[in-house]
Amino acid sequence: MSATHIHTSDTSKSIFEHNREYIPGGVMSLPRRVEPELAFEKAEGAYMWDADGNRYLDYHGAFGPSILGHNDPHVNAAVERTLKSGPDLCGSGTNRLEGRLAELMCSNIDVCEMAQLFNTGTEATMSALRLARGATGRDHVIVMQGGFNGSHNDVACNVMTPLNVIGPRVSPGEYKYVSLGSGVPLAHQQLVHIINFNDLESVQYVCERYPIAALITEPILQNVGIMKPHPGYLQGLRDLADKYGFVLIFDEVKTGFRYSLGGYSKISGVRPDLAVYAKAMANGYVISALVGKRELMQRIADADPAKRPFVAGTYNGHPLSVAAAIATIERLLHNNGEIYQRLDRLGAQIQSGIEHLLRSRGIAGVVARQGSAFCIYFMEHEPSDWHDLASNHDFARDRDLRMKMIQRGIYFFPVETKQCSISAAHTEADIESTLRALDECLR
Ligand SMILES: Cc1ncc(COP(=O)(O)O)c(C=O)c1O
Repeated sequence: MSATHIHTSDTSKSIFEHNREYIPGGVMSLPRRVEPELAFEKAEGAYMWDADGNRYLDYHGAFGPSILGHNDPHVNAAVERTLKSGPDLCGSGTNRLEGRLAELMCSNIDVCEMAQLFNTGTEATMSALRLARGATGRDHVIVMQGGFNGSHNDVACNVMTPLNVIGPRVSPGEYKYVSLGSGVPLAHQQLVHIINFNDLESVQYVCERYPIAALITEPILQNVGIMKPHPGYLQGLRDLADKYGFVLIFDEVKTGFRYSLGGYSKISGVRPDLAVYAKAMANGYVISALVGKRELMQRIADADPAKRPFVAGTYNGHPLSVAAAIATIERLLHNNGEIYQRLDRLGAQIQSGIEHLLRSRGIAGVVARQGSAFCIYFMEHEPSDWHDLASNHDFARDRDLRMKMIQRGIYFFPVETKQCSISAAHTEADIESTLRALDECLR
């Protein structure tokens, strides 16, 4: 039995047409402008429904937040309780709730000696870099080719830039900033150095030539699938940070809370100076956090205004999101983190199933996986950087597979190399039906 095929109808299309009239591109965040154009009405557990009533088993998880499953009742109940004391409680002074969340994070995340809350990943990475610049008195920063750290000027560059734009592999450290859009001042671009992931030589090269304030990286590049660090790479970054005096920032917006509370830093054993969390932290509610070493974090409230980076936000620590984050963390901590063990089992089940399908059909492909997130690369090996991926992966086949899966009611996000995420609401039976659909689609 295969998964059911979806029925097309015009409702999604007409919603898009209406919205395009009033919203640029018809969507509120450009990465959502994809084909097929679907409007969604409801999400529950492992599933979501489009406006035409088609049900999809969801592996996109809203770009990562859905770790417990959509619309989790435990998290929603905490939000409802907090609603009674007023959603704008964060507008003056402090409150018990935000102190409780910060304490929970400090007691469960090694790198977190203090926490500052924001709303989005973008705000948190922007503030992390500002803090690093203030602390080091330097302006230059290093980011990763193929990485994504938000949409502010420092990092709005080079995610999936075609090789004919950035050029072939060149000498260490000589990749140019290619902005994701217009409006980033040239003078600012000159402060940002793009290097390839898994390449310590380039870090060293840039550090020898520029005063580097910070290096920011996802510890696994998760905006081009699951691109893992080579053994020793993250420790190499730590050593270079110590040698050259830059601030090492792990962007755990996607990896944090998904693999462990402390994200991939906990798993790798490498401790950055600062880390940023968001997405799975509150299972879909709006929150992010900048955490790190006390001596750095304390600068945010330094008595000397010349030393303080400006950090402010009307909705920072919004009580509904804070309540959602506490409830999510409680669920993740329950029974010694048994959720993570279950998610890992589901991840292993789908990985071995897909590997079997690829092998039995003689298809060149690998499954890169970390815990509950995976990505199928149609190439002979797991990619180690964007150049490797862009020159070897079969993008057409990847896209074709995603479109066919969506047709069968299984939502693999329709953009090549975007990873799939399993939630705690997925079941073994869901994984089996996914493998049956993949069996048909890979034929
Ligand atoms: C690793 C990473 N960092 C930062 C961000 C930016 O987060 P936000 O979209 O909440 O601003 C994203 C968003 O996808 C991300 O994947």
